[in-house]
Amino acid sequence: MLPITPEQLRAQFPALQPRNGQAPLIYFDGPGGTQMAQSALDAMVDYIRGGMANLHGTFPSSVATDALLDEARQAVADWLGCQPQEVAFGANMTTLAFAIARSLAAALQPGDEVLVTELDHRANVDPWLTLARDRGATVRFIPIDTATYTLDLTQLEQLITPRTRLVAVGLSSNVTGTVTPVEAIIRRARAVGALTVLDAVHAAPHLPLDFRALGCDVLLCSAYKFFGPHVGVAVVATARFEQLAVYKLDPAPADMPHKLETGTQNHEGLAGLLGALAFIQGLGHGSTRAEQLRTGIEAIDAYEQALAEDLEDFLRSLPQVRLYRAPAGTRKTPTLAFIIEEHHSREVAAWFAEHHRMCIADGHFYATTLADKLGMAATGGWVRIGLAPYNTAGEVEQFKKALREFLALHP
Ligand SMILES: Cc1ncc(COP(=O)(O)O)c(C=O)c1O
Repeated sequence: MLPITPEQLRAQFPALQPRNGQAPLIYFDGPGGTQMAQSALDAMVDYIRGGMANLHGTFPSSVATDALLDEARQAVADWLGCQPQEVAFGANMTTLAFAIARSLAAALQPGDEVLVTELDHRANVDPWLTLARDRGATVRFIPIDTATYTLDLTQLEQLITPRTRLVAVGLSSNVTGTVTPVEAIIRRARAVGALTVLDAVHAAPHLPLDFRALGCDVLLCSAYKFFGPHVGVAVVATARFEQLAVYKLDPAPADMPHKLETGTQNHEGLAGLLGALAFIQGLGHGSTRAEQLRTGIEAIDAYEQALAEDLEDFLRSLPQVRLYRAPAGTRKTPTLAFIIEEHHSREVAAWFAEHHRMCIADGHFYATTLADKLGMAATGGWVRIGLAPYNTAGEVEQFKKALREFLALHP
């Protein structure tokens, strides 16, 4: 459980405080992006106030900026269980994935195979599809089981062949919350020498991650999904990173991780990333940063799971609601996607925003393979509630009350 009360935790999020006499926002779009923790905001402002600078200078703010980037890399390494030189920063996950895809071109020949999934956000599909198209490689999809909203892993032996060069899988769906047991996929991919990419964007705020234990080659996430600013993070295993033939400026560093970090980085954003990790650490315990981060995420997960189970039971009890959620026994993040029969999802989301100041997202959330397969066009995709540690049981009760009101008004 969280070491502080939900009220104390909420107080650490400026955007959730009452303003101009209005009731505070009820923010249910964590999967779209969480609110920023005060510690992240402070770190960004402190860096800017203290004097921004470019790297490798002799003057104090430049030296401090070098130290800041080193510290951000070390903090991510502690959090994700990798080496600091395996951590590269970028604009966001999508941009990093495209940059990595482009640098893999020489590693792919016509007739090679690339494996992606039907469950993933297209940010973990299209970069690899583009690479395959450019190189004449074949693309295959791990299918989704439409009865359980989980990946059907029964055909892995046939899907990952000696020609497979790259396997890209999401750790967790940003729509259904399904957590994919990636270990078997990675094991099989490694057996044939394929490069493995894990999209951890949705998983990172909810699940403890260990890069080495996962055994993947690339792991991608984004700080704005875990209480920080808009900065992307790529972890690339040393042996693979050394081989990446990135597009870069001639005078820019050619060593890892800098070769992947084209142009000047978002220094204030990286200060914010450190602040976001400090927030997570503050919810954990232990003597090292790594331990504090892991136990911090575990505390968040336990807290969110209790809220999500309650919400799931409620949604399942309503005949007008169709919930897209894996059955009990499948690990899930606290992200719930549903539709209300006879109602367009945009209409539902807009009603909650207008009448209850609830921020609830609607649409396909870029998981368009899944949306197409499930025929979601007619309803405008899903309505999605994604919980974060600053959401409270009281907010979930308010949502239930509001949904009952919506159903009573729209019989
Ligand atoms: C699961 C998942 N993967 C990838 C992305 C793309 O991340 P970014 O916005 O950092 O490019 C998102 C964004 O919503 C996501 O939810």
